[in-house]
Amino acid sequence: MGDSKSLYVLWVVCVSCVPLIVFAFFTPEDGLFIDCGGSKALKLDDGRVFEPDSGHRYVGLSPHSHIVVSETGVGDSNDSVLYHSARVFKETSTYTIITQQIGRHWLRLHLHPVENPRYHLKSAVFSVVANGIALLHGFSFSKLGKMSGLLKEYVIEVGGSSPEKLVLILSPWNGSIAFINGIEVVSIPDGQLPSSAMPVPLGPAVNIPTHVAFETAYRVNMGGPLITPNNDSQFRIWEPDQSFLVNAASARNVTVNPSSIKYLNGVSVEIAPNWVYSTAQEMADANVIDQIFNISWAFEVEPMFPYLIRLHFCDIVSLTLDTLVFNVYINNQSALESFDISSKTTELSAAYFVDFVANVSAGLNRVLVQVGPPIMRNFPPNAILNGLEIMKMSDPRDSLVGNLSQDYIDSNTPKTNKWVLLAVTFSVGFAVLVLISVAFYLYLRHPKKPRHQTSVWVPLTAHVGNSDSKVSVGSFASAAHSLGLGRVLAFSEICEATKNFDESLVLGVGGFGKVYKGVLECGVVVAVKRGNPQSQQGFTEFRTEIVMLSKLRHRHLVSLIGYCDEFDEMIIVYEFMAGGPLRKHLYGSDLPPLTWNQRLQVCIGAAKGLHYLHTGAAESIIHRDVKTTNILLDENLIAKVADFGLSKLGPTLDQTHVSTAVKGSFGYLDPEYFRRQQLTEKSDVYSFGVVLMEVLFARPAINPALPRDQVNIAEWAMNWQKRGKLEKVIDPHLVGSVNLESLRKFGETAEKCLAEHGTERPTMGDVLWNLEYALQLQEASIQMVSAENSANYIPDVPEWVSQIQPAEGDGADTISYQESDTTSNGVFSQLLDPKGR
Ligand SMILES: *[C@@H]1O[C@H](CO)[C@@H](O)[C@H](O)[C@H]1NC(C)=O
Ligand SMILES: *[C@@H]1O[C@H](CO)[C@@H](O)[C@H](O)[C@H]1NC(C)=O
Ligand SMILES: *[C@@H]1O[C@H](CO)[C@@H](O)[C@H](O)[C@H]1NC(C)=O
Ligand SMILES: *[C@@H]1O[C@H](CO)[C@@H](O)[C@H](O)[C@H]1NC(C)=O
Repeated sequence: MGDSKSLYVLWVVCVSCVPLIVFAFFTPEDGLFIDCGGSKALKLDDGRVFEPDSGHRYVGLSPHSHIVVSETGVGDSNDSVLYHSARVFKETSTYTIITQQIGRHWLRLHLHPVENPRYHLKSAVFSVVANGIALLHGFSFSKLGKMSGLLKEYVIEVGGSSPEKLVLILSPWNGSIAFINGIEVVSIPDGQLPSSAMPVPLGPAVNIPTHVAFETAYRVNMGGPLITPNNDSQFRIWEPDQSFLVNAASARNVTVNPSSIKYLNGVSVEIAPNWVYSTAQEMADANVIDQIFNISWAFEVEPMFPYLIRLHFCDIVSLTLDTLVFNVYINNQSALESFDISSKTTELSAAYFVDFVANVSAGLNRVLVQVGPPIMRNFPPNAILNGLEIMKMSDPRDSLVGNLSQDYIDSNTPKTNKWVLLAVTFSVGFAVLVLISVAFYLYLRHPKKPRHQTSVWVPLTAHVGNSDSKVSVGSFASAAHSLGLGRVLAFSEICEATKNFDESLVLGVGGFGKVYKGVLECGVVVAVKRGNPQSQQGFTEFRTEIVMLSKLRHRHLVSLIGYCDEFDEMIIVYEFMAGGPLRKHLYGSDLPPLTWNQRLQVCIGAAKGLHYLHTGAAESIIHRDVKTTNILLDENLIAKVADFGLSKLGPTLDQTHVSTAVKGSFGYLDPEYFRRQQLTEKSDVYSFGVVLMEVLFARPAINPALPRDQVNIAEWAMNWQKRGKLEKVIDPHLVGSVNLESLRKFGETAEKCLAEHGTERPTMGDVLWNLEYALQLQEASIQMVSAENSANYIPDVPEWVSQIQPAEGDGADTISYQESDTTSNGVFSQLLDPKGR
């Protein structure tokens, strides 16, 4: 009896906890609220506490010359307390905000031109860039015509090139000033934003890589009131829809009790609060036969950008399932046809959302969203919409501002080196894009060239009878199996190995997807790379990688264990490399530095792998993406080359090169390949030369934080090599333990690899030979020293690299490398640098 009573109590406790659990489900790991120029913590009604930016634990501000202004007299009492002070900058200044999590974050900027006697903030003109994404360009309140507070909301990825931090750069335009009142950085839960979405007009799904940034253009609560950050777990604002209705008389608002809203099938309150789903607009003449029209909403937007359009639905009007069926149009194009919410949710009052991507072309500056009944129907006409979000997506220039053209680079009188570099990076990036698109265009224009020999992809078709009669096989796995391509693993096997893709097993994350550590049933530890199923481009790379890896077995190449393409999955299973990428052993982590001997061994291992690729297999293979993150180490520091997603078959005997669109990673790209789009094995040799330099200097190939002449390792190192003074700038950890002869041999080898013209570069075989020679020199000198020491003999000391003179203009080294470079525990590296290709 007592038992049943306590069970009952337990039951009551559990049931009454349910709403609490729903709300406690997501706690953002980053919730940084910064009051710029504030002097004490400001607590808002919604629970947010804005801390002053100066002395903030996670906020750095440089340079230090800035001014705080405060509102004179009493500010408008309607204004947020945040808007009573601002920080003003006379020169380009940087906020560095340290986050706890990588991944996407909300970035909210509060801007209010505080009235004050010192500066006229309304006429201030400035630009803002966050983690390389241009957010504002020549922004000014006076241009805007709006004079009160402005809240700009963005989605920015933290990770990639700036792990665990958000770098916000404010740049005043010529002679003007910049200012800011408040900054919010809040983690976005995984899965909140889609990795792909259907386009309108309908076509194949559009991939949305995580480096794409967003700006909230509109977030609307149909048929309901303003929803403030109070009622949103992520402190978002939802505005009412009346002002966007094209014909207010066409719509009628419906409201139900918010607590009646159900969250099922992976939709959570983070997607939208129940306050959004509990109100809607329906057709004003609903249920009157033959009244057929659309409810339309129009939103002014900046053209020439893609927009993510998220429609929120919840059937709060029907009495039974499957009676509400309607069409949805975006920009006069059909998005959803005869859409029945309950067929998706199987319940009434259940939250549901759908994403679309629409391009807004020049000349059209609005997004038109319409819902209306289909012509053919079994039920009285009605249509509803509960909520709508329109998010501008960053363009390939990493910009969210349209007027950003050449003047972005030109008109900014450079004020600091950082800014020059940024501009250079932008312009170079843009030039690369233009070149790539031109190359791609030319490539498309001339498809007549015989390309069968250069084709990357061996068509996976089963040949029946003579070679002309090909029978395509539906599933890649079945075809691949018949070609002997590694082991086909069941999706269930992989789920088991990775504990259903447990987040705690993630080794690395990137554009392609995630890499998990797993244990197969047989006990073998593996690395599981899971691609994003919707990515079409990913699929080509997926197939290339499997085909390439299946052909290759070598001690210095990462082996393929199997793969899975069930349910459109793209999963590749490799041997697990406990040591992770070489880069991690060089900089950006707290692993112990490798000795010179170990570094030579690693380079030799990688060189053997590449040499085998170039010469060992039946056809020569060009890796195309040689870099320190694609060289993995096992637990014994044996190096293996990984990531064959971009590999190509090399030129055949009667060809000298393969023509191809430029792919690869910035900083490692062979300049000749880049100029002429002609790929040879020597392009890998060039990239390997960059790797050698990285090994020697323990710094990234490209470090934009350094002074201009040091940004590119190849250029910078060649300078020192040509002056014969390499030893002055090598990784300080090597000082005192490197034999000078060995170092010179290594430097010479790297120099030859980096030769301007492919024909002047050595083959991987030559490189290998030279590295082995460098290792011999080092080992001989060590033996000599120890022999001499044991003989208690004052040696004729070999030329050790002893003292390092700090090289001119070089003060920035290790600290800034870490600042600007990718650190990741990723094993598969293309993941580290999805933008690099
Ligand atoms: C709903 O409609 C009524 C009547 O048309 C209107 O008075 C009210 O303001 C509307 N409420 C909302 C939240 O739009
Ligand atoms: C928001 O939440 C408060 C309670 O926290 C509630 O009283 C209010 O009605 C809610 N709804 C809206 C739309 O603000
Ligand atoms: C949709 O069609 C209407 C009339 O047919 C036209 O006026 C409007 O410009 C179109 N809107 C869009 C976004 O294409
Ligand atoms: C609703 O809008 C779409 C797209 O603009 C149009 O094709 C359709 O005819 C409209 N439906 C009605 C009933 O007016």
